[in-house]
Amino acid sequence: MTICRLCADAGINSIEVSGNWTSVSGIRAGKNEANFAEFALAIADTVSVPVILVGGHRSVENMEKVLNAGKVDFLSLSRPLIREPDLTNRWAVGDHRPAECVSCNMCYHTPGHECIKK
Ligand SMILES: Cc1cc2nc3c(=O)[nH]c(=O)nc-3n(C[C@H](O)[C@H](O)[C@H](O)COP(=O)(O)O)c2cc1C
Ligand code: SF4
Repeated sequence: MTICRLCADAGINSIEVSGNWTSVSGIRAGKNEANFAEFALAIADTVSVPVILVGGHRSVENMEKVLNAGKVDFLSLSRPLIREPDLTNRWAVGDHRPAECVSCNMCYHTPGHECIKK
């Protein structure tokens, strides 16, 4: 928290809250999404710069919940976009089925980090 405050005071543009091993396996929509939300919300309460939260976003419903819960400004996605590069467009036109990524982490081991489900 102190480091975040110091960075904000020094003029950093934004803070993206992540963690040690970020690609948590077994993420399921509606069950264990947004694994770093607690930390991001706490940091967002104490700094004035935009806060971004990465990790475990799989459903529009939960992403809206996180955005409405506090001052987190942006959410970022990694594996869901490897599995479905067009995911945000799908959501934007009203198809709100959760991301198809099952958080198996096999894309860490494929050439070009492609999804094994493709
Ligand atoms: C193939 C792959 C490579 C990654 N490489 C990095 C990296 O170099 N640095 C980093 O901070 N995070 C890296 N990540 C972690 C992601 O940026 C992200 O924080 C994490 O996967 C959780 O988000 P997600 O649930 O949307 O996938 C990588 C993730 C994947 C799947
Ligand atoms: S291999 Fe595919 S389903 Fe598994 S974590 Fe990577 S993107 Fe998701």
